[in-house]
Amino acid sequence: MDQPKLKTTIAVLGCGDVGATLAYTLILQSVCSEVILVDPKKELLEGQVRDLSDATYRGGSGTKIRAGTHKDAGQADIVVITAGAKQKPGESRLSLLSRNLHILSSIFTSMAPISPHTILLLVANPVDILTYFARKLSGLPESQVLGTGTSLDSARLRGILAQKAEVAPNSIDAYVLGEHGDSQFIAWSSAAIGITPLRLVLPDQLTPDFKASIAAHTRGAAGAIIRAKGCTSYGIGNIAASICKYILFDSRSVRPLSFYQPDLDCCLSMPAVVGRRGIIKAMPVELDEDERGQLLDCARGLRAVIEGAEAELSADVKLEKALEMDKGS
Ligand SMILES: NC(=O)c1ccc[n+]([C@@H]2O[C@H](COP(=O)([O-])OP(=O)(O)OC[C@H]3O[C@@H](n4cnc5c(N)ncnc54)[C@H](O)[C@@H]3O)[C@@H](O)[C@H]2O)c1
Repeated sequence: MDQPKLKTTIAVLGCGDVGATLAYTLILQSVCSEVILVDPKKELLEGQVRDLSDATYRGGSGTKIRAGTHKDAGQADIVVITAGAKQKPGESRLSLLSRNLHILSSIFTSMAPISPHTILLLVANPVDILTYFARKLSGLPESQVLGTGTSLDSARLRGILAQKAEVAPNSIDAYVLGEHGDSQFIAWSSAAIGITPLRLVLPDQLTPDFKASIAAHTRGAAGAIIRAKGCTSYGIGNIAASICKYILFDSRSVRPLSFYQPDLDCCLSMPAVVGRRGIIKAMPVELDEDERGQLLDCARGLRAVIEGAEAELSADVKLEKALEMDKGS
């Protein structure tokens, strides 16, 4: 007879700025019973585990933290991938692709065999492209592979619209959709405060210039923070922890997340219901003609990058095979 499962485990791959902040948030919010940290930098890993353990001893948190291997991570309920190079000041997310794709591919080799019940949450950038490849490399059903996508951009949008409308951020229902990157767009046509369309709340302000300045703010916020402090970590740490909570608590919250879009053959952010099995379902969305055009442009750009990356990955496989044959001869 199967033993009852007593623990909920979240593995965080990469314990740099984002991974450590996420682990800290998971501990403070007691999202799971165990957090496993994995990082090839042994000294950093040990230091983070000791420091974060200190945060678990205050009595309020039921979460334990330990260092683990990629193999351990492959059996966790949720694997969050923050492993990878971070953006340098002024660098686009897409230029991280080559470095982070190689790290991603080595992670799946080291984690194998991955539990068929694991949910993968991608945070490392470029998150939409890595989510697409994680789905292929892991062999998991597509509903179990998701990326944080534009959740952070949407939180920033909420923040700025809340200031303009003088209401609480959690009363704003407005999403940034598409790529977590330069081709993202705001679904202005469906933006609302409670049940009131945004155009009724800010009737004189919603001009093209206003919209363009808000879009520039949400698109450029990460770059400004990275220039100032070298990374972004609190916003994304908090958002990734909330997504883990929605999954483990099967909360069925609706969030803009990156997941596979069969009609566009790429992963990008659209609103989805998230729960214990990952993406429970995509929510139907009404976009106006302009937004629909932006969505298609965004998907075209992502597809072009995917095709380039596929060629690079298959060249790697050929090179590895050739090196193996050379060793054997
Ligand atoms: N999706 C978002 O909204 C968002 C927001 C912020 C940062 N990010 C991305 O998150 C990633 C991490 O950012 P950071 O600031 O924490 O970087 P960081 O350099 O501080 O940490 C990355 C860590 O990953 C580790 N790592 C490398 N290879 C690994 C492997 N195979 N297994 C496990 N760990 C491995 C490194 O040793 C390092 O400690 C970056 O790609 C960054 O662009 C995404």
